[in-house]
Amino acid sequence: MDLILMGLPGAGKGTQAEKISEKYNIPHISTGDMFRLAIKEGTDLGKKAKQFMDQGDLVPDEVTIGIVDERLRKDDCQNGFLLDGFPRTIAQAEALQTLLSNMDEDIDCVLHVDVPEEQLVKRLTGRRICPTCGATYHVMYNPPKKEGICDKDGSELIQREDDTPETVKNRLAVNIEQTKPLLDYYQEKGYLVTIDGNKEIDAVFQDIQTKIEK
Ligand code: AP5
Ligand code: ZN
Repeated sequence: MDLILMGLPGAGKGTQAEKISEKYNIPHISTGDMFRLAIKEGTDLGKKAKQFMDQGDLVPDEVTIGIVDERLRKDDCQNGFLLDGFPRTIAQAEALQTLLSNMDEDIDCVLHVDVPEEQLVKRLTGRRICPTCGATYHVMYNPPKKEGICDKDGSELIQREDDTPETVKNRLAVNIEQTKPLLDYYQEKGYLVTIDGNKEIDAVFQDIQTKIEK
């Protein structure tokens, strides 16, 4: 099963992707996570990506397409994959189409998690992540059992660097502009499925499963 998860920053892509990946046993491929790992490890890719991410801008297409190309060639993608946060531009979508047709694969469905903008700001500024295992929490909507501490490994939770109010504003603006043409692109091809993301986490996951299994 080859799935794409789309949605504005804070729509809940990462949160849902974890659940989808576990339930359907397909790797969760998040370009944002790949860039954050590269930054943490101080690689050339990380250095390149950081300057864009810190501003809330998109990393250039050629860099992003390159890492996805490499990732999709790995063995664990043989039985499908879940792309989270890629593609984000028409150029990326076209490059993906070419990559997949070279692999004799096709997209099964593009899940678009739709959430009103004012809700996104609240979700992003209240998000906390675990620096050790990457788990995502929210101070109000999805708090850990013990305040500020990861349920899974006891690490102290931190705020993502691009979740400051200033960067959030630009991230949303940049992504809103890029998303519309991409939704039209997938709608025209008949892949697009819209999910109401303005519900509780488990209710959104229920809807996603229903759509996938259709
Ligand atoms: P990326 O890491 O992909 O960030 P993003 O798209 O901004 O999305 P987020 O991770 O912020 O949000 P999410 O939708 O995953 O929400 P989450 O589940 O965490 O990209 C980061 C940067 O990398 C980009 O800005 C860009 O620079 C670069 N980049 C990445 N991909 C790129 C590409 N293809 N091309 C170019 N550049 C690229 O949820 C958010 C919060 O809400 C959490 O606290 C969560 O607990 C909470 N929450 C989730 N669901 C619900 C719910 N249903 N109800 C209440 N709260 C909820
Ligand atoms: Zn953790």
